[in-house]
Amino acid sequence: MTQMAMESALFAALYERRNLRERDPAPPSARPAVRPGAAVSIVNLSKSFAGRPVLRDLSFEIAPGEFVAIVGRSGCGKSTLLRLLAGLNAADAGDIRVDRRPVTNVVGEARLMFQDPRLLPWRRVIANVGIGLGGNWYYEALTALRSVGLDGREHDWPAMLSGGQRQRVALARALVSRPKLMLLDEPFAALDALTRLEMQQLIEAMWLRQRFTALLVTHDVREAIGLADRVILIEQGGIALELAVPNERPRTRSNAKLAALETKLLDRLLECAGGDGKVSRFTSLPVQHPSDDKDQSPW
Ligand SMILES: Nc1ncnc2c1ncn2[C@@H]1O[C@H](COP(=O)(O)OP(=O)(O)OP(=O)(O)O)[C@@H](O)[C@H]1O
Ligand SMILES: [Mg+2]
Repeated sequence: MTQMAMESALFAALYERRNLRERDPAPPSARPAVRPGAAVSIVNLSKSFAGRPVLRDLSFEIAPGEFVAIVGRSGCGKSTLLRLLAGLNAADAGDIRVDRRPVTNVVGEARLMFQDPRLLPWRRVIANVGIGLGGNWYYEALTALRSVGLDGREHDWPAMLSGGQRQRVALARALVSRPKLMLLDEPFAALDALTRLEMQQLIEAMWLRQRFTALLVTHDVREAIGLADRVILIEQGGIALELAVPNERPRTRSNAKLAALETKLLDRLLECAGGDGKVSRFTSLPVQHPSDDKDQSPW
């Protein structure tokens, strides 16, 4: 880095710090605490890359406020589906609507969260959360940071946080604008087991509080059954299996009904994989029996 570049970076950091200090937390904004989740409708959706079909005539609906998980083997088109829903790619054919409007018109309603937090390293945590917000952005970003358990870290640089904390910042950034649709593309995949559990509980708590519609892509069958109201298995561009999960929350780790659903889903995944060894990314579940259903620990 040249001397000039270093000086500019230092100046930018000092300027941002002073700006942040000078901003008093403002009174609550007019942004509503709860917005009803969006209704999603996908009809005959098709997408190919270089002549190779990825999604073929895919159709399903998501009710407002519903939590849906998408599973399927690597390369089956899960991320492609989320990108189409976010309006980042265009479909070859078919129709996607969010609250009855074509996806091109829903910018601001949907947020996408990825496996990596994608924070700007040269912006402080609070500025990363408040990015793109107007008005009382500082207060709102601070409130969002608090809701993900990061009080007091607002003036840190992203590099000063752990991987799990960075992912919490990404979650705060996604939640701060009160999205009606949350698209989650393996957001916990890079986290250790304990942090992953904490993040799952946090997402569930935020979803219960804000009631956005959630679409979670995951390779973790237990995670899918533990969080979602419905799980959709995609194979060969279409829906191979759809499972409704009993609507009991909080869910417990050894609930026999959920265990049976996990087994069913895993069996179907193994069937889809055709025994070519590519299912190793899916987690399996030890077989459970109704008599084991005593553990009341959180999911
Ligand atoms: N921009 C692109 N250009 C060409 N091919 C692409 C592009 N994006 C995705 N594909 C292809 O589309 C298919 C589906 O990719 P996608 O990323 O949606 O899979 P996925 O189900 O999310 O997989 P994973 O579980 O590994 O993340 C893959 O064969 C991939 O190579
Ligand atoms: Mg993917």
